[in-house]
Amino acid sequence: MEQSKARITAIGSYVPDKRMTNFDLEKLVDTNDEWIMQRTGIRERRISEPDQYTSDLCVSAAQDLMRRYDKSLYDVDLILVATTTPDFIFPSVAAIVQDKLGISSSVGVIDLSAACSGFVYALHVAQGMVASGLHRKVLVFGADTMSKITDYTDRTTCILFGDGAGVVLVESETEETSFLAYHQGTDGIGGAHVYLNGIADKLNGVELSNTGNIVQNGREVFRWAVRNVPEGVKAILEKSSFTTNDVDWFIPHSANLRIIEPICERTGIPLERTLYSLENFGNTSAATIPLSLDLGIREGKLNDGDRILIYGFGAGLTHAGLLLNWNLHPQVQLPEAK
Ligand code: UT7
Repeated sequence: MEQSKARITAIGSYVPDKRMTNFDLEKLVDTNDEWIMQRTGIRERRISEPDQYTSDLCVSAAQDLMRRYDKSLYDVDLILVATTTPDFIFPSVAAIVQDKLGISSSVGVIDLSAACSGFVYALHVAQGMVASGLHRKVLVFGADTMSKITDYTDRTTCILFGDGAGVVLVESETEETSFLAYHQGTDGIGGAHVYLNGIADKLNGVELSNTGNIVQNGREVFRWAVRNVPEGVKAILEKSSFTTNDVDWFIPHSANLRIIEPICERTGIPLERTLYSLENFGNTSAATIPLSLDLGIREGKLNDGDRILIYGFGAGLTHAGLLLNWNLHPQVQLPEAK
């Protein structure tokens, strides 16, 4: 029997309609457009409606995928949702998505919590599931509604985050794999540098008035990422037979352009061969990489046959990257212009 290979066959994405510009933020906190652009490269972000949750963003992203890849998702046999902003702690977003998309009840559903590294982790799990023959058709979401855990009185965090969702379909086939090499790392000692306050404090008996918000020591995360991501990129390339020259597109997590620039410098991949989604969407956590992939397609930059290196990093502290052979199913249509 031929061994299964895991291939990314289709993609979809969604961002909410509501925009929050740097000028809008000037009215909320002591900041300004010039500081935000200079320090982050972020111009605006999309913000979900009060009754619009991560599962809603996932469903809209999957509907976008279905418009472009005219195949039923009914027989998907595993749904993975990388998110740290689930609608509820339980039930999982993946279970809600199964219901809303009308996918067969024989599907498995898992939420996966690895913050901004989450989409890469979920793709890695999907690859393992499909290549091992345990699953045949896996939907992998990276989705977050960061605005719901953002403190809009904290100028050091509220300027960064936005909401969005992306999804890819990983299918079993015998001809070619999309997955060329993987690398991961964890520094749990840095957990306090970026976390969600509230629940752990409550478990420890500490009552906080300001709970359920992201708390971050931006400078520490910044330093850690600039050190660790280039090393991770090097490790992935060493595990494959490729060099930086063979990478058509580098897609690091869209945390901040001022982090991406030194990462590019240290890896030797020029910024011109880098895709990011932060300028118009901000830091959407687990969604930044699939949003950047889809933006690359929509802008006519990313094409089938390209070799791409995606790299997530964030809370944990965790980081993870994948070298991918980008070859969607030939039946996939280009997205309509937005
Ligand atoms: O995706 C999850 C992982 N998270 C990240 O990757 C975030 C990584 N870190 C960052 O993106 C950056 O550290 C930030 C954008 C968060 C901050 O940029 P920074 O260049 O590291 O600024 P800083 O924290 O060192 O602050 C510099 C100054 C401070 O003023 P003083 O103490 O020098 O007088 C801050 O109070 O800038 C001040 N400041 C602001 N000023 C205007 C901080 N936030 C703002 C603001 N507007 N929004």
